[in-house]
Amino acid sequence: MTKKTSYFQGDKYNSLAKKDGYRSRAAYKLIQIQKEFNLIQPGDNVLELGSAPGGWSQVISKIINDSGSITAIDVLPMKKIKYVNFHQIDLVNIEKLNLKKMSIVLSDIAPNITGVGFIDTANMNSLLEIEISIVDKFLQIGGKYLCKCFEGDSLDFLAENLKDRFKFVKRLKPEASRSISRELYVLGIEKI
Ligand SMILES: C[S@@+](CC[C@H](N)C(=O)[O-])C[C@H]1O[C@@H](n2cnc3c(N)ncnc32)[C@H](O)[C@@H]1O
Repeated sequence: MTKKTSYFQGDKYNSLAKKDGYRSRAAYKLIQIQKEFNLIQPGDNVLELGSAPGGWSQVISKIINDSGSITAIDVLPMKKIKYVNFHQIDLVNIEKLNLKKMSIVLSDIAPNITGVGFIDTANMNSLLEIEISIVDKFLQIGGKYLCKCFEGDSLDFLAENLKDRFKFVKRLKPEASRSISRELYVLGIEKI
């Protein structure tokens, strides 16, 4: 018999997501970051990179409502979420969307992990390089950038690239991010 997989197998955040109606356990990572840093505020223009299946988008939608704008992109399809303008498009093609300046750029993107350290680092860094070019082009001065990376070389790469672009740079490991995972988030505050 084929085993059915679901977003909701496993730990406490999977159960919570099911109970609270979030499409992914990842929603709680953003909820926890939001609680600590009051990252997103009504009226913000938000660009979300790598949004499917939509847990973060649901969180953002509840905050922004119809007060600002939410543009979300992913290579995969995503079911509709109120107030979210979703585009199924690869990050590298984002220029085709003709975006306005944003007050926040958020990314939960990571490459598929091969298990070969140097390949995974190279893949992560090339994604981050594209994200940084998006930040350069579409994030307004004073804006914020939250992105995922992995401890080690990609964190160093990011730290090096963000230190001259933002007034403050913080590393975050929300409780909902599994402790065995090398994943962490970096927040750039006040783009220079
Ligand atoms: C961890 S998931 C995001 C989960 C989301 N934050 C949530 O709460 O539901 C990462 C997403 O990044 C997307 N992604 C990976 N590479 C991408 C690329 N080059 N362009 C656009 N999206 C990409 C994947 O398709 C995947 O849906």
